[in-house]
Amino acid sequence: TFPSHVKLVEMSPRDGLQNESSDVFEGMVPTAIKLELIERLSNTGLTHIEAASFVSPKWVPQMADASAVMQGIQRRDGIIYSALTPNLKGAENAIASHAGEIAVFSAASEAFTEKNINCSIEESLSRFEPVIELAKAHNIPVRGYVSTVLGCPYQGEVSPNEVARVAKRLYDMGCYEISLGDTIGTGTPLSAKRMLEAVSRDIPINKLAAHFHDTYGQAIANLYAVLEEGIGIIDASVAGLGGCPYAQGASGNVASEDVLYLLQGLGIETGVDLDQLITTGYWISDQLKRQNGSKVALAKGR
Ligand code: HMG
Ligand code: MG
Repeated sequence: TFPSHVKLVEMSPRDGLQNESSDVFEGMVPTAIKLELIERLSNTGLTHIEAASFVSPKWVPQMADASAVMQGIQRRDGIIYSALTPNLKGAENAIASHAGEIAVFSAASEAFTEKNINCSIEESLSRFEPVIELAKAHNIPVRGYVSTVLGCPYQGEVSPNEVARVAKRLYDMGCYEISLGDTIGTGTPLSAKRMLEAVSRDIPINKLAAHFHDTYGQAIANLYAVLEEGIGIIDASVAGLGGCPYAQGASGNVASEDVLYLLQGLGIETGVDLDQLITTGYWISDQLKRQNGSKVALAKGR
């Protein structure tokens, strides 16, 4: 059965921008634009915004100003501004910049983990131990991501049992919520359901989030499938911005506007204003000189 309320987690400042490499701004999106995006998102009713990532600037140059972004946010009551971190160094910097939540990330594929964070799945998990310990000491919740849950750009198929195993490890280590990433968007409603079935055997469904990229145009269908199973947390990016730098050809997250339209049609509450979201999606698309990736935004117009 469908949930009555869905928590939307906005990804555009992090997942949306991390791979941005347009010639506009000579490839580097100015900190001021990132801050204005976050400010505009904060006016839409969203309660969770992933604002930046504290990763190696050699690997992901676009996130090199993460500290300035986290510190520049005009914080609002009731909104959590989170930061992605791969290791203790990232977590220390995120906490020093007042991240309200930290997220660690691994994957269900060894090959992808090596390319993305230069270590094995097991090594990645052991790097998260001190991160979670530090966050706990500061009373900061930690989210865990599992990537490649419905397919890997290097190894192809990924078994639901392997997704479930990595998700359970992160949950047992102390992640309060596990976000399941279809990094390359190859999933279909049936594979999404089967994966969720395996993961939710070990982890309560209200601790699981769907993080679907729309590369194959299946994300909305896949979200409908997992909503039916009771998923109540969805990650999305305005204007469908984004893509992972270590997943060739991966396009953006499913567009927040399209997810909200789906949820409204199902009578599911989010507290987010669709018109404001659409305006924000057009604004950032204009800044980046990109085509707006939300079908709902294109249909409704500015
Ligand atoms: P490495 O090269 O093995 O790391 O990279 P290292 O520990 O050997 O350090 C190398 C250099 O990086 C050193 O600097 C460190 O200080 C520095 P040097 O001495 O050479 O000058 N360094 C750092 N700098 C800043 N912040 C840090 C940090 N850590 C080390 N936290 C590492 C390993 C994990 C650091 C690297 O591979 C990395 O940063 N990877 C990040 C990749 C990434 O951001 N991918 C995209 C996010 S994941 C995603 O999008 C998927 C998701 O959306 C879900 C889904 O869609 O599936 C979450
Ligand atoms: Mg992603």
